Amino acid sequence: MRSLLYGTGVLLVLTTFQVPLFIMRFGQSRLYRSEDYGKTFQDITDLINNTFIQTEFGIAIGPENSGKVILTGDLTEGRVTKIFRSVDFGKSFVTSELPFHPLMQITYNPRDSNILMVYSINYDLWLSEDFGANWRKIHETVCLVKWGMDDTIFLTTNPNGSCSDRGTLELRKSLDYGKTFKTIGSRIYSFGLGGRFVFASVMTDSGSKRMIHVSVDQGETWDMAQLPTVGHEQFYSILAANYDMVFMHVDEPGDSGIGTIYVSDDRGTVFSTSLERHLYTTTGGDTDFTNITSLRGVYMTSVLAVDGSVQTVITFNQGGEWQPLQRPWNGVCDSTTEYPDKVRCSLHIHASYSISMKLNVPVQPLSEPNAVGLILAHGSVGGAVSVLSPDVYVSDDGGYTWFQALKGPHHYAILDSGGLLVAVEHNPSHPISQIKFSTDEGQCWHVHNFTDDPMYFTGLASEPGARSMNVSLWGYRETVLNQYWVSVTVDFRHLLSRDCQENDYIQWLAHSNDISDPTDGCMLGYKERFLRLRKDSVCWNGWDYIVTKEPTTCPCTLTDFQCDFGFYHAENSSVCVEQPDLIGHSLEFCLHGRKEQLQTSGYRKIPGDHCKGGITPERKEIDLSKKCVSNLLRTELLQHNDLSHSPIIAVVIAVLLISAVAGVIFIKKYVCGGRFLVHRYSVLQQHAEANGIDGVDDLDTLEVGKIQYHDDSDEDLLE
Ligand SMILES: *[C@@H]1O[C@H](CO)[C@@H](O)[C@H](O)[C@H]1NC(C)=O
Ligand SMILES: *[C@@H]1O[C@H](CO)[C@@H](O)[C@H](O)[C@H]1NC(C)=O
Ligand SMILES: *[C@@H]1O[C@H](CO)[C@@H](O)[C@H](O)[C@H]1NC(C)=O
Ligand SMILES: *[C@@H]1O[C@H](CO)[C@@H](O)[C@H](O)[C@H]1NC(C)=O
Ligand SMILES: *[C@@H]1O[C@H](CO)[C@@H](O)[C@H](O)[C@H]1NC(C)=O
Ligand SMILES: *[C@@H]1O[C@H](CO)[C@@H](O)[C@H](O)[C@H]1NC(C)=O
Repeated sequence: MRSLLYGTGVLLVLTTFQVPLFIMRFGQSRLYRSEDYGKTFQDITDLINNTFIQTEFGIAIGPENSGKVILTGDLTEGRVTKIFRSVDFGKSFVTSELPFHPLMQITYNPRDSNILMVYSINYDLWLSEDFGANWRKIHETVCLVKWGMDDTIFLTTNPNGSCSDRGTLELRKSLDYGKTFKTIGSRIYSFGLGGRFVFASVMTDSGSKRMIHVSVDQGETWDMAQLPTVGHEQFYSILAANYDMVFMHVDEPGDSGIGTIYVSDDRGTVFSTSLERHLYTTTGGDTDFTNITSLRGVYMTSVLAVDGSVQTVITFNQGGEWQPLQRPWNGVCDSTTEYPDKVRCSLHIHASYSISMKLNVPVQPLSEPNAVGLILAHGSVGGAVSVLSPDVYVSDDGGYTWFQALKGPHHYAILDSGGLLVAVEHNPSHPISQIKFSTDEGQCWHVHNFTDDPMYFTGLASEPGARSMNVSLWGYRETVLNQYWVSVTVDFRHLLSRDCQENDYIQWLAHSNDISDPTDGCMLGYKERFLRLRKDSVCWNGWDYIVTKEPTTCPCTLTDFQCDFGFYHAENSSVCVEQPDLIGHSLEFCLHGRKEQLQTSGYRKIPGDHCKGGITPERKEIDLSKKCVSNLLRTELLQHNDLSHSPIIAVVIAVLLISAVAGVIFIKKYVCGGRFLVHRYSVLQQHAEANGIDGVDDLDTLEVGKIQYHDDSDEDLLE
């Protein structure tokens, strides 16, 4: 396991040898530390008294720049669980014993890294306010716990003590680190946090279905979200969320592996259908949904076509419309695929789903906010995703156009804010000594021999944030007797020796396709001009590089609005008309807020849209208050705490993991001398918690805190 401490050059590496002996496990772990980005390492195992460190959740890195690290000792070492705490980037450790055995990784309060929280194997929730020295039990029978905004703790619990009775849980919150708790919902199935929204799935009165309620004030008041109800075999999942809006996936009934993506309004209550037949398998919990962070409003995912093929689609306007990817200008349509659809020959991207299917795809698509417009991804050209070995494709305009950059699968990284791309061939059976790099956004690639002694390559990592010029390559070498792991750090600073000057940059208008159109480049009400490095400039952006952008607002058009609750888009037009079935009916929807919020003119600005002037849609205010039924989290219900009507639903839910931890983890297991060597490398990136992306329904309680990792598909390769 390797952890890169943000912005410091410090790396911690934990290697673990384990021998499974029937039920007992016997093992040894070693801890190494580097202060120079992995060039040299020091064995610091004696700092932790040679204790065996847990591999599953043994290493917890504090929030950015806090310098905090906690290592959790393995239970089998003794009757007490020991933790080793460091406040100086792993230079020194102090030990303390836990009065319980943890079941998950210790979590840090995102606002104050001295406050830790974890629950035990008995589902008791423990909290420490002094960085792990003293612990107090703050709650019993905790099924799921999460840090919310502003030091809030949210948890679900079952008063009767069984977390498997989902749908009978209570949602509670604490604002004072667990001294007092307030029940904010009952008959809860599960909950999730995303952006500023709190979502809870609540059992309906009929008892076998549940639906989503949303709160924008940290659980004080709730509204029923206008989303379909689901049965116990289905799930909801938050694909992405920010301050403005959320992408929600709602699973279809039956084990179809597909569902529908909905996008929310700014209140999180009114949802519009964004994409149907969205691939999200229940078995592996895999979806290809990807936020392209290098261009605003761009997202990519896969759909399962009616013919059973998997196809990639992309949206450039935050889920408004989806379309196939353009065929790369140098890409040849693969007629040998199972779906040789010449008519719809387009680019298809390999992401989580392909990786879970054990296709030869070493890494996910990659984009970085400071490498404007750049996307690197594995893909194939044809009618659908191909099972053949993929190639690496690059887009430099946020996904509008693509070209084939490298043949065959590669590991890749973005360095120097996009000024430098590096790639290493993925070929587990051959030792390698070369790294490829490009200074023109992937058009031309050069080769650098980084070693005279080739090594079996397992993965590469650079410092999170894509500003670095250093990249570390990880792997192992073989001698006659054994294998030993190695890391090589390549510093490209000597390559880009010149600092970039003003004339190295050119202006680029994002989302542009027709310069004669005055609204060209308008996206969610504004257009942005960026200063980007010229492709032929070989120079160094540097650590302090900031993306220069010049936004200009656009006049509003009807496409800047969505239809409010009770309205729908008339066919082939952007005009919102009132739903006929609303008239004289009460609908299962209600806005819980102040009175004026219950009025609507039919149109609402799309969340995050900044347009000014232009079209003002006709106001046609209707009062929704008479049409409301209250939500299911009625206050009377809460006060009496009356659960007697609640049915108990035994649920077997597939374990689905949403990438709550943005990280790359490579695992290498191999037999050496009859022992299993487990190498676990984890690059802890800026936490996705900044955006608070999270599942609602799909996180099994036992899985919380477990870092997501994927096995190298070649784990049996070495014998
Ligand atoms: C290591 O063990 C020694 C002796 O048992 C003890 O004095 C010391 O405090 C321990 N150090 C740590 C970091 O646990
Ligand atoms: C909780 O337990 C009590 C007594 O054991 C029982 O009467 C009640 O129905 C249970 N409630 C739920 C929701 O399981
Ligand atoms: C997608 O990523 C961008 C850049 O990191 C971020 O600003 C945006 O909020 C993300 N979108 C969602 C819906 O999370
Ligand atoms: C790199 O190594 C290859 C053989 O592996 C060799 O042919 C090539 O000349 C080397 N390049 C440099 C610049 O040393
Ligand atoms: C690369 O690593 C060296 C240490 O080996 C460090 O001094 C330098 O700042 C790093 N450069 C970048 C751009 O990260
Ligand atoms: C909407 O557009 C589609 C295709 O452009 C057309 O087939 C359909 O008849 C149109 N519907 C109406 C009501 O105009």
